[in-house]
Amino acid sequence: MKRLEPWRLIVSDLSPIALTDPAAFATPRRLHEMFARLRRDQPVTRVEADGFPAFWLVTRHDDIKAIENDSAIFLAGPRTILQTLSQEKVNLEKFGDINGLKTLVHMDGDEHLKHRLIAQSFFSRSNIEKLRARTERQADFFIDKMAAMNGSCDFAADIAFWFPLRVVLSIMGVPPEDDAHILKLTQQLFGFMDPELGYGQELGELGVVKVIGDFATYVNALIEKRRAAPTDDLASVLATAEIDGRPIDGFKQLSYFILVTTAGHDTTSASIAEGLNALIDDPSAMARLKAEPALCATAADEFIRLAAPVKHFLRTPTKDVVIAGVPIKAGETIMLAFSSAARDERIFSEPDRVTPDRPVNQHLAFGYGPHVCLGKHLARMEVEIFFRRLLPRLHSIERAGPVEYMEGGFVSGIKKMPVRHAMT
Ligand code: HEM
Repeated sequence: MKRLEPWRLIVSDLSPIALTDPAAFATPRRLHEMFARLRRDQPVTRVEADGFPAFWLVTRHDDIKAIENDSAIFLAGPRTILQTLSQEKVNLEKFGDINGLKTLVHMDGDEHLKHRLIAQSFFSRSNIEKLRARTERQADFFIDKMAAMNGSCDFAADIAFWFPLRVVLSIMGVPPEDDAHILKLTQQLFGFMDPELGYGQELGELGVVKVIGDFATYVNALIEKRRAAPTDDLASVLATAEIDGRPIDGFKQLSYFILVTTAGHDTTSASIAEGLNALIDDPSAMARLKAEPALCATAADEFIRLAAPVKHFLRTPTKDVVIAGVPIKAGETIMLAFSSAARDERIFSEPDRVTPDRPVNQHLAFGYGPHVCLGKHLARMEVEIFFRRLLPRLHSIERAGPVEYMEGGFVSGIKKMPVRHAMT
């Protein structure tokens, strides 16, 4: 009998093909179980699903880190996230590129570096620290709102979605009255196939084109305003930025805006909701954090590790490579499964457990290497501040219904989390 290559072994219950089904992300526990089996038995797996490009799924922390670190060989640009082949075709027709948008995450080499430098100093640790007092006031606003909600709320939809949104939109220069509009557009983009959030079911591939068009209407008007009268916000930086002495291309400007605003809040909201969810499950961790608020800084990273809201990015090797013993040809597609790396038992003891003081948390939820998350200092500060301000006021909290996760294989997390709480 012909022996199967190791990556063709059949995985019980959920198979890696599930990663092409946005609905699979609504039950993350099953995905975590699948990833644990894959890390153990077949850390690099070939996935072939109808209607999708074939890809190699890489699940172990060390392999993902090594790929991320070698950006000269493993390119981000050719194919950046997993989409259907028909979506790629529509993107190519409408935008001239299978990826659709042209943001930092879609660029490599010099082009990437030059564009990253435009916003890099804005997001440096020292610049972000300057926003601490304002961010505390913004957190208090939403914590006050939670306290005023008569003992019950949907923590995700009423609170967690809104705080990081306001933080990033104030950095961008978007007025508070537009928060709901930007939140809707983000959820339509990331929750494209979620029947409650996106246009996917109704408009198919053209749904993404519609959301990008709606974003463009909003962003172009704001950029025009800032070009005419720049302020100290990030929209002004983007409106007036130059590369090699020339203004940046309008589509890249739009893409930059969309990247920062969307990447800047859904991810952080998901981490805050996942953090509170984990603390409800583990009263001793909750008690420890209340007793030692200084631990909120390390706990923030732990919540981000558990949520790992960015589920994947893709890379394309420029030459034939071997990863964990599996040969991969130049030009093939590789998926980096960040949420698998975040629970790799080779790196994290008791990976499914919340450990507020986990030492040197080297999770890859922010990625690694030249593309490492530009907003990581901001995200950490927001999560830390939120729990520092919430916990002293929170006397009790319990779930009042099932927690629901968004359907989405790129960026997703908790979308509904009904709770009963007592607060001052
Ligand atoms: C917990 C929250 C967040 C998580 C988990 C997260 C995760 C990530 C990941 C995985 C990447 C890709 C890294 C790679 O390919 O190696 C990334 C890139 C990026 N993130 Fe975040 N992010 C978060 C919050 C933010 C915030 C708050 C902002 C900005 C306000 C932001 C802006 C960006 C940008 C601009 C990039 C592109 C960087 C590049 O390609 O050079 N992110 N993020």
